[in-house]
Amino acid sequence: MSRLGIIDTHAHLDDGRFDADRAEVIGRLSRDMEAVITQGTTYGTSVASVRLAEQYDFIYAAVGWHPEDLAGIRDERYLADIERLAREHEKVVAIGEIGLDYYWKENLPRDVQLLRLHQQCELAASLDLPAVIHDREAHGDCLEFVQKEMPKGLRMVFHCFSGSLEMARELWKRGIYTGFGGSSTYKRNKKVREILAACPEDLYLLETDCPYLTPEPYRGRRNDPSYTEFIAKNAALVRGTTWEHIAEQSTKNALTLFTRIRQSQKK
Ligand code: NI
Repeated sequence: MSRLGIIDTHAHLDDGRFDADRAEVIGRLSRDMEAVITQGTTYGTSVASVRLAEQYDFIYAAVGWHPEDLAGIRDERYLADIERLAREHEKVVAIGEIGLDYYWKENLPRDVQLLRLHQQCELAASLDLPAVIHDREAHGDCLEFVQKEMPKGLRMVFHCFSGSLEMARELWKRGIYTGFGGSSTYKRNKKVREILAACPEDLYLLETDCPYLTPEPYRGRRNDPSYTEFIAKNAALVRGTTWEHIAEQSTKNALTLFTRIRQSQKK
């Protein structure tokens, strides 16, 4: 058992902000964390995530194309490239990070984003892997996708959830997980804490989205997976329980969603 016994379900350890001291950061994490899932955002960063997962026992990878990066897709073979990574590497535990981002004007048009979301979710379903969903300012279309078009049996998490409580309830009804990160510790973000308080016991996950979105009390510094501790401690206050319980339950939830983690730990 690691010092904290928790899983950071959403990190970007390949990010350039870790270039100067990545090995040192990961060395510390190996004592602190049960597991870290580092996310792909393009083919290149997906390969980088897989490499980190192969290098370190407790690191796992998600592979996929992020909605902000879709302009980098050259042709339809992109999907086969992602599929190959997922099939050939058993430490790939999810397709992600994928989704819809209507915040940035320079992102590709909505119909293209929706097409890529569909394709990558179909792939996830066909591989029996969960999908890690990024939803920024696209709540309506994300909810409609889940209600009407999501492949049958697909398991998913909405990472760093920013929708409404009503939307969260629609997701929970379908067994969809909610990822809570640094934003749940920010003073002004009451809405996320309401959702965290109401989330069913078996559907919450912890995440940092590092190096971004650093939780309190370290907001402003570079984020890293060990700060999941502060997200767990805040969640304990919000849910009226101990942080040890949050650690245990969120880890159990992560292992239930990301089934390949447990399979690879058994080996
Ligand atoms: Ni992310």
